[in-house]
Amino acid sequence: MSLGEDPHSRSQRFRRSIRSASLRKERFSHSSRSLLDIESLSDSDIHSLLKEAGRFKISPRKSPLVRRHVALLFYEASTRTRCSFELAAKSLGASTTLVSATASSIEKGESLVDTGATLAAMGAECIVIRHPSSGAPHVLARHLTIPIVNAGDGMHEHPSQALLDCYTILQHRRTLDGLRLLLVGDIFHSRVARSNALLLTRLRAQVTFCGPPALLPDIAETIAPGVRITRDFDAALPGADVIMMLRVQKERLSGLQLSVDDYIRDYQLTSERLALAPADVLVMHPGPMVRGMELTSEVADSARSLVLEQVRNGVSVRRAILLRALGGHT
Ligand code: NCD
Repeated sequence: MSLGEDPHSRSQRFRRSIRSASLRKERFSHSSRSLLDIESLSDSDIHSLLKEAGRFKISPRKSPLVRRHVALLFYEASTRTRCSFELAAKSLGASTTLVSATASSIEKGESLVDTGATLAAMGAECIVIRHPSSGAPHVLARHLTIPIVNAGDGMHEHPSQALLDCYTILQHRRTLDGLRLLLVGDIFHSRVARSNALLLTRLRAQVTFCGPPALLPDIAETIAPGVRITRDFDAALPGADVIMMLRVQKERLSGLQLSVDDYIRDYQLTSERLALAPADVLVMHPGPMVRGMELTSEVADSARSLVLEQVRNGVSVRRAILLRALGGHT
């Protein structure tokens, strides 16, 4: 495996992306209804979001957000997160408007804050934002008074994904306390891995990251207290209650040369590898899955796979997030 950037500067870039987002957080107080990252959620926020999402599954309410307006501001590609927020908002009675980086004034050079202020001036009461830069939702939250929901910011966080992942695990296991989670693959570029590590360790799960040094620098251990690192997937499998596979984020590799053959040999989840894990292990993936890369089709479609269940639960969890943001009464 050859690297275009030395491991030291990659580690520094990793550290910087965490630190700059944290600094931005300290300097302002945003709407308490925003969802910017897992770190700024209180324990009671976490529990009430997970509980509220569960209530929706049992009895979907009638339109508590009727005549409310949600803007979806997507500077990066998305299928499930965008549709899920949109369906969640509409199912609660809210109207939505989608602004994407292409086909909008963003293409003409409009700044993030100007675009956000424009949407708010038109009546958007909440902005759900996905952006390639870590900390972009925090910048928007500092300049606007409406709640901002982070739908993924660069390599920083993806809080709604972590909440729906926890929610999905809790559909199958009574508690996260002591549960052993193995997150495998491109941890370095994964906001999903970071948000999950922060949330799962808060809920007292044991989190182990697994991947090659190029995609999992040693410093990743510092993301959350108690996080461990292993390079040996086969050896880690017998001790896993949940395996969360992650996509190699080709769009963020910036110069990193990765041998696909080596990656598949060491880190692809195959049926043979799955047989090394406990028989009731849960297999998860935030999507989009690249079949034949991080996992085989056989595993993706197996009875152990919760992939579509995660997607389904995403709508319930995002309803709870939007209700919290907009203060809808039910
Ligand atoms: C992820 C993302 O965009 O961070 N997907 C998602 O939102 N479910 C992961 C990825 O792109 O690989």
